[in-house]
Amino acid sequence: MPTLSLRNTYILSLWLAIVFPFVGLFTALLVVAAPNSQLCARGQNVVDSTPTCKATASPRVFQPASFNASKWIWTGENLTPGGNNIISTRPLRKNITTPCDKCAVCATIIVASDDAHTFYVNGVRIGAGGNWKQGQALFVALQPSWNLFAIAGQNTVVNSPAGIMATILIHYSDGTSGTFITDESWRTLRAAPPANFQLPSVDDSTWAFAAVQGTFQNSVWGQPTLPPVLPLTGSNWIWTSDNVGGNAPVGSRAFRKTIKQCTKVAVCATVLISADNHYTLYVNGATVGSGSSFSAADAYTIPNLLPTFNTFAINATNDAGPAGVIATIFITYRDGSNETVVTDGSWKAALTLPQGFESSSFDDSAWQNAKVVGAYGVAPWGGALTIPRA
Ligand SMILES: *[C@@H]1O[C@H](CO)[C@@H](O)[C@H](O)[C@H]1NC(C)=O
Ligand SMILES: *[C@@H]1O[C@H](CO)[C@@H](O)[C@H](O)[C@H]1NC(C)=O
Ligand SMILES: *[C@@H]1O[C@H](CO)[C@@H](O)[C@H](O)[C@H]1NC(C)=O
Ligand SMILES: *[C@@H]1O[C@H](CO)[C@@H](O)[C@H](O)[C@H]1NC(C)=O
Repeated sequence: MPTLSLRNTYILSLWLAIVFPFVGLFTALLVVAAPNSQLCARGQNVVDSTPTCKATASPRVFQPASFNASKWIWTGENLTPGGNNIISTRPLRKNITTPCDKCAVCATIIVASDDAHTFYVNGVRIGAGGNWKQGQALFVALQPSWNLFAIAGQNTVVNSPAGIMATILIHYSDGTSGTFITDESWRTLRAAPPANFQLPSVDDSTWAFAAVQGTFQNSVWGQPTLPPVLPLTGSNWIWTSDNVGGNAPVGSRAFRKTIKQCTKVAVCATVLISADNHYTLYVNGATVGSGSSFSAADAYTIPNLLPTFNTFAINATNDAGPAGVIATIFITYRDGSNETVVTDGSWKAALTLPQGFESSSFDDSAWQNAKVVGAYGVAPWGGALTIPRA
């Protein structure tokens, strides 16, 4: 049996020293990769070339927008504010530049219209509606330094008042926000919108300025109310398998949902959540907030989503009898699109809360699927939870 020379021992230990860290790293990678059987396929991940802000802000309680300072605007074809207008569609545009020490991340928009509107941000259609009594809420990801907001306003009733009123609440990367309103600085035309009027490439510098038709406090329309942040309709009360006939044992349960999008970049989320009896919500391991009311939902803004994978985790606790947790998660993507995720049977659930259950790298693949107790509206909670306004 050959004996190891001193030199060979040295080489062997060098070899071990070099190889073992790699073996260790390789094992670590396997461990980290294990829960991500949902990893994006190679080359599937989008390369996000858009300049972005490094969001330093943390998840926080949802900040409502307000019509308070906003103004109804139209073209001024009728010189009397709030006066009658012909049946028509008119373009309205505003380029909102970000203060130089800030970086825009995403926005909450509330908009009311007589009679209808289609709303575009940076050329992308983000929603349409038509109601002067209640605003519509829209959420959108933004560009860092400037954003073009464009509206096609419609007057569909012959000889009737025409107006659009919007407030744009912009969230900056540092956690601050700025409020912008429709006013006489918006651009418009006394003509139908030219083709692709919503695109940033269209030059509106020769367009007229919009004419104010009234203020929030004083107009022919009265004061539009704010819409609920998000609907709970479409979502479900969920619990673990030990919830039988709506009732479950006293104790805490863990729930998780990882939202994967390989081909678009997630930016912000708005979350609406309620539990019977208590919840603590986490995103990617960070605490978002807690609550203890099954007759009212809480709303949060998450301004710092990760591009591809985002893990929402909930510690939900039952004090007695009926047990359930319900949530709606609204995600905005860099390309202007959005996705709504609700609590349902695709969530993972566990009867205990293992150490680190809230972290994104935690492996929940062996967990049970959440049990759907019932769709929003089901007894004993009913369909009348108080929902914060947008
Ligand atoms: C509404 O406007 C008034 C003054 O115009 C201001 O004092 C108040 O704080 C505003 N409220 C909101 C919610 O912005
Ligand atoms: C989400 O996107 C759809 C499709 O573009 C749009 O109709 C809807 O208004 C958007 N929702 C919100 C709340 O922004
Ligand atoms: C908006 O304003 C910024 C700053 O002046 C400018 O760089 C950008 O081109 C403008 N965008 C549009 C669509 O007008
Ligand atoms: C879960 O929430 C309950 C109720 O708030 C709390 O007592 C418990 O410590 C929490 N468990 C963990 C692991 O966070």
